[in-house]
Amino acid sequence: MSATVQIDVCSSEDLPSGAVKVVVHGELTIAVFNAEGALYAIEDRCTHDDGPLAEGEFDPEECVVACPRHGAEFDIRSGSALTLPAYRPVETFPVDVEDGRIVVTVPAT
Ligand code: FES
Repeated sequence: MSATVQIDVCSSEDLPSGAVKVVVHGELTIAVFNAEGALYAIEDRCTHDDGPLAEGEFDPEECVVACPRHGAEFDIRSGSALTLPAYRPVETFPVDVEDGRIVVTVPAT
């Protein structure tokens, strides 16, 4: 198994449903979403042309975020690109709550 690092995001109270938080880890920027109580983390970089997905429109019911640059939609659960102009998925990361803190697990660099 490859090594991983856990990144502290925020208190779970600070990320209510419909909210998104961005956390930076080295060269990796991660967007953490609360979709009606379920937490998901994706790389905050659109696979079309690096748009900041956390700044796009987020639909917590559908678990979809739209890139603010050219509108490509991604499923935040799987990272799948749902609409053009993006067609490659974004990377996803496991999210947990530990002692009331939201934690994202990423590969160690
Ligand atoms: S950068 Fe995201 S759709 Fe173009």
